[in-house]
Amino acid sequence: MTPLITVKNLEVRAGKKVLLSIPHFEIQEGEVLGIMGPNGAGKSTLIKALALLEHPAHGTIILKDKDITKEMTLEMRRKFAVAMQQPLLLDTSVYQNIAVGLKLRKLPRQEIKSKVSYWLEKFQISHLAKKHAYHLSGGEAQRVNLARAMVLEPEILFLDEPFSALDFPTKIQLLKDIKSIIQQTKTTTVFVSHDLMELKYLAENLAILMDGELKQSGPAEEVLSSPNPSTTAFINDWKTLLN
Ligand SMILES: Nc1ncnc2c1ncn2[C@@H]1O[C@H](COP(=O)(O)OP(=O)(O)OP(=O)(O)O)[C@@H](O)[C@H]1O
Ligand SMILES: [Mg+2]
Repeated sequence: MTPLITVKNLEVRAGKKVLLSIPHFEIQEGEVLGIMGPNGAGKSTLIKALALLEHPAHGTIILKDKDITKEMTLEMRRKFAVAMQQPLLLDTSVYQNIAVGLKLRKLPRQEIKSKVSYWLEKFQISHLAKKHAYHLSGGEAQRVNLARAMVLEPEILFLDEPFSALDFPTKIQLLKDIKSIIQQTKTTTVFVSHDLMELKYLAENLAILMDGELKQSGPAEEVLSSPNPSTTAFINDWKTLLN
């Protein structure tokens, strides 16, 4: 089966500094891939490169069998949705925040209404539709952020630590909801987190990124039970914490 994304010889730099160097990497259709690694490892840089938000210095990103590396077009970017730790919501209502992407795509009004209502319902925020986005709690704002991503029916959903600013009960509830939404919609998801509990719950596969390099990847259980020489110390620190 052709992977959804194939990355070849990817290198992202800031000036002379190499932020990311990945010889080969694949994301399969329908996969939920967790990415873990220390601060500054290059996780956000990888997400930005894959979502075509950052120009790589070298390398190729292939979507199915199309080279999209140089296609930083609006049309291509629209295939991907990114949700980050701090939701960047617009100065308007919850409804408008979720509708804005569809409006830009000039969908008929009725269709926008039905899609937005559907995702408000899915994320259990229908009662907030008219509320101003700046008056939401952290958990509510992240729900709006995720609904705004999902309403666009992305080919890949990129999540960069979307739960890390939330308190524990809020996080658990949202994790459950997003898991069931990802499963129902079969959305290919790349999920960056520092939290092994979140990663184990959501991601079937796990990639460990350190110093801008992919040190290990595979089924989450396998990576955690058999770390390699590069990842042992990092993974064992986590295991000690969890046990
Ligand atoms: N525009 C830039 N210019 C220079 N250095 C940068 C730039 N963007 C990122 N970096 C550096 O690249 C490295 C990787 O950053 P990145 O944000 O991808 O890390 P991360 O794994 O997401 O870390 P965290 O866990 O803290 O979110 C860091 O050392 C960071 O300081
Ligand atoms: Mg980051």
